[in-house]
Amino acid sequence: MLIFVTESVSKMWPVVILVWLSAPFGLSCTPDLQFPSWFKFGASTSSYQIEGAWNVSDKAESKWDRLTHTIPETFKQATGDVACDSYRLWRRDIEMIEELGLQFYRFSISWPRLLPSGFPNIISEDGKRYYNNLIDGLLEKGIEPVVTIYHFEMPEIFQELGGWTNPLISDWYADYARVVFSLFGDRVKTWITINEPSIECDYFHTSEMPYNAGLEHGVASYMCNKYVLIAHAKAWRIYDTEFRHKYNGKVSFSNHLLWLYPSSPEYEELTEISREFISGRYCHAVYSKEGGWPPVVEENVAKFGRKIGYTRTRLPPFTKEEIELVRGTYDYFGLNYYTTRLVRPSYPGESVNPSVFFSVIDVDAVFDIDPDWRNGLNKLLPIHPIGLRQQMEWVQKHYGEMEFIISENGYSSTGSNLNDYERISFIKDHLEQVLMSINEGINVTKYSYWGLMDDFEWLDGYRSNFGLYEVDFSDVNRTRTPRKSAAYYSGVIRNRSLCYEPTHIDINTIEI
Ligand code: BGC
Repeated sequence: MLIFVTESVSKMWPVVILVWLSAPFGLSCTPDLQFPSWFKFGASTSSYQIEGAWNVSDKAESKWDRLTHTIPETFKQATGDVACDSYRLWRRDIEMIEELGLQFYRFSISWPRLLPSGFPNIISEDGKRYYNNLIDGLLEKGIEPVVTIYHFEMPEIFQELGGWTNPLISDWYADYARVVFSLFGDRVKTWITINEPSIECDYFHTSEMPYNAGLEHGVASYMCNKYVLIAHAKAWRIYDTEFRHKYNGKVSFSNHLLWLYPSSPEYEELTEISREFISGRYCHAVYSKEGGWPPVVEENVAKFGRKIGYTRTRLPPFTKEEIELVRGTYDYFGLNYYTTRLVRPSYPGESVNPSVFFSVIDVDAVFDIDPDWRNGLNKLLPIHPIGLRQQMEWVQKHYGEMEFIISENGYSSTGSNLNDYERISFIKDHLEQVLMSINEGINVTKYSYWGLMDDFEWLDGYRSNFGLYEVDFSDVNRTRTPRKSAAYYSGVIRNRSLCYEPTHIDINTIEI
């Protein structure tokens, strides 16, 4: 099917839609493809990945400034020094968000930009102004700001003291969160305390990162796991006692969960243990009725530790007070979903993948990728849309009914690629699963695509592009151009249905 839309400058809208032929992608426009009126669509970014201005005004260094400047080879020679230059170009970002018709925009605050010393003794006037402008600019256009307080951007001074593995970090973080709530809480009603503790602790605590004293696997990652949960809980409690009565917002954190299937039915038990390691380790303490670590995780870490000569468990225990502090500190479940793995026991003598997130330690399990799954550029993230719904079902079965916000879900390509049909299918296939979840009675209220635009993609530098908008990183103006997926997503949003209708965004022809 062909849909023709006149070529135009993206800002000149509405542009005439010439032809609209029934439903795209073989979907017929039935009411079950309609999103409920309360459902909201958004897109996400994070400060280090887009802002640039790494040393402007009184901003201090973050761990990423230090890493990219000292070991550039690890990041494909890329830095976030300029990135998308959103510190300067935030007005254009808002324009894009408006063009897309997003109901909310998820962005993060840079801790070292707002608090240059890391502590609340100095609050940067420029940092404050930047985030106030962004929040007010969004609200003027009727767009809800959804704000992440921490998205991987540890102040370098704290990283040198161990970052998330230092028990004191939870208080330093909580003090920072209090400043953020007091400055912006009158206008921000949805908060994400910490982005993806599992990626922060398990994936970034790998040997490629030079800050773990060689203790990354099963030591530093578990310490980080505990203190990141305590930090989240302290921030939630601060909001609950000091701000909720005035501002009535919602606070939780965003978990990146890897959905797991048994590669054969006899591995169901091993798969469930692996789910407790991958997902339960970041959920049980907060969402379960009992709190603390999942019991099977405690047992396995102790058992495997004894086998290799440890006399003490490497999983830092929670005290009774800590269990109570962390338990129940949520207002919704924030889920970042990208991919799935198949679980099986390791073969004799087989070495287990050293990247902790995409395999586990302390469980004799190996995670495989089904060769039939489609891929974007990033081969760690093969596409398996049904995993999104099954992951939510698992969470709900284990921890009970609650509100779900999908705070990230995205597809990576590389190079200039405005005709990104694969991204369109990716979005459509995942939104279909969201609709099915809603129809099954799961209370999903928001979906946020990652990302609004191409950005600095951590270990991938600028090679991996997730954006609805393409960014020209060789241009001083960091020109942003909508991809066809932007047109598709905006059509879905305006129509509130997977029965896509083309909109004003500049596209020439969508061939489906
Ligand atoms: C992170 C983002 C990242 C995205 C795509 C997520 O795990 O939160 O910062 O850009 O994945 O790689």
